[in-house]
Amino acid sequence: MFPNILLITTISFLAFSLASSSPSKGLIAPLIPPTSPRSPFYIEILKENNILITKNVTLNRTHYMKWLLTKYSPDEFSEVYFQKDAGYHVMDMYMGDPAQLVYGIFDTGSDIVWIQCTRQTGQKKFPYYKYSKSDTYKNVQCDDKQKCNTDNTYILGCKSLPNNCEFKATYGDATSAFGVMATDIITFKPEWEIFHDFIFGCSLKNSNSMMGVIGASNSGYSLPKQLYPNDPKFSYCISDNLSKTSVVKFGPAANLSGGTLDMIKNLHTGFYYLDVLAVKVNGQDIDVRPVVFEMSNDGSKGFVTDSGTTFSGLTSVAFDALKRKIEQFLGPSKKYMIFEICYPTSRFGPWPWQHARPTIGLEVTNFTLEFEEIRVWQLIPNSNMECLQMMRVMSGLSILGFEQLLNVNVGHDPNHNLMYLEKTTCETT
Ligand SMILES: *[C@@H]1O[C@H](CO)[C@@H](O)[C@H](O)[C@H]1NC(C)=O
Ligand SMILES: *[C@@H]1O[C@H](CO)[C@@H](O)[C@H](O)[C@H]1NC(C)=O
Ligand SMILES: *[C@@H]1O[C@H](CO)[C@@H](O)[C@H](O)[C@H]1NC(C)=O
Ligand SMILES: *[C@@H]1O[C@H](CO)[C@@H](O)[C@H](O)[C@H]1NC(C)=O
Ligand SMILES: *[C@@H]1O[C@H](CO)[C@@H](O)[C@H](O)[C@H]1NC(C)=O
Repeated sequence: MFPNILLITTISFLAFSLASSSPSKGLIAPLIPPTSPRSPFYIEILKENNILITKNVTLNRTHYMKWLLTKYSPDEFSEVYFQKDAGYHVMDMYMGDPAQLVYGIFDTGSDIVWIQCTRQTGQKKFPYYKYSKSDTYKNVQCDDKQKCNTDNTYILGCKSLPNNCEFKATYGDATSAFGVMATDIITFKPEWEIFHDFIFGCSLKNSNSMMGVIGASNSGYSLPKQLYPNDPKFSYCISDNLSKTSVVKFGPAANLSGGTLDMIKNLHTGFYYLDVLAVKVNGQDIDVRPVVFEMSNDGSKGFVTDSGTTFSGLTSVAFDALKRKIEQFLGPSKKYMIFEICYPTSRFGPWPWQHARPTIGLEVTNFTLEFEEIRVWQLIPNSNMECLQMMRVMSGLSILGFEQLLNVNVGHDPNHNLMYLEKTTCETT
């Protein structure tokens, strides 16, 4: 997900280990699609699709898209609305003693982990962490500069609540979370290796549509950095089969395989910036100066990868260039609901057998990452429109979102500033 608190202060990265000892063998956690009965979002999708809530049914992409699209009114076309509730995969893990299952959206674009610690007003079924039932839960103390480091933009320090280190996470889609920094133990199945003193935000007030975020950015409080401070590598692979639960692997368990992309670390933000040289349509560069994708010193411009953003997005000037290039091949496009580049299916022939849709790719140092057709062109339910699954972004940051990386094993190796990508059939549980 996309924080809109960029660049207010300088983050000084915590160069030291925040916690006692790293689990030895690496850790594996599920990434649950919103269409699974295991996901807190499942019931919402049933509701949006008028399906009886009393039984578990198998949901497909049509249900999923319908749910995504009901989140928006046709006029609300902007980055601010498109990210809201948008189809996130949630990770679960165990927290506290006795262990409780907690959930959060797995988000390489967020710095901290926060879990909701109370049910929000008007929120029906989402789970929350009952911290008072945990013997190992502790609030972070105001004078603990290591755990309450206000150089991090998410951490406010001790302000309105007496003697509590506060955090606030605000995202681009106007969702937010506010609460206190705390520590507790976390564990992962099946090894049940215990990780002590895990630092997280215990949220007291957050948007109804969220139950937690598992930050996995390149900053000190993120899950990979806390688990394995010396080598915070991890990998995930999200299956396009909405019935399957995917996995994310941390530390020694991470699967780094396939082509490598350079990542660039920014001193002020935790984002993973990619060295994108060009955006290609049918192998031709869109007409935009490559500098629009370059990371700026303050981190406000560039091209980042973000597992918490659904559809990839290009900064406005690049999105216009993309649209012009596609229109060179297909003629004038139409806007439909949240999507700006759409064509009637009759333009392509029967889905998906005729291949008249332009290919879209990102040129990086050693190759072009070309997206599969089905990852970029989708038939919108209850319509005859096929739309490009990419959005205009109002900030200077273009984003590689997870819809374009389905069925791709994605590896992150922050120590070597490398991202690994390989098309595959994702491991599922
Ligand atoms: C539905 O799925 C959930 C989660 O997998 C499970 O706990 C529950 O027992 C299932 N309910 C029915 C009626 O099958
Ligand atoms: C999804 O499921 C619905 C109802 O079960 C069915 O009508 C529809 O054809 C399915 N769509 C796809 C793409 O499988
Ligand atoms: C998705 O996975 C389910 C469960 O394993 C399987 O039954 C189904 O055929 C798969 N669907 C596709 C489109 O591969
Ligand atoms: C690109 O290829 C060159 C030559 O094979 C290699 O030295 C370099 O490490 C590669 N860069 C990346 C990011 O993979
Ligand atoms: C690592 O991922 C690749 C696909 O990128 C897969 O072929 C391979 O089996 C995976 N290795 C392990 C040990 O999971």
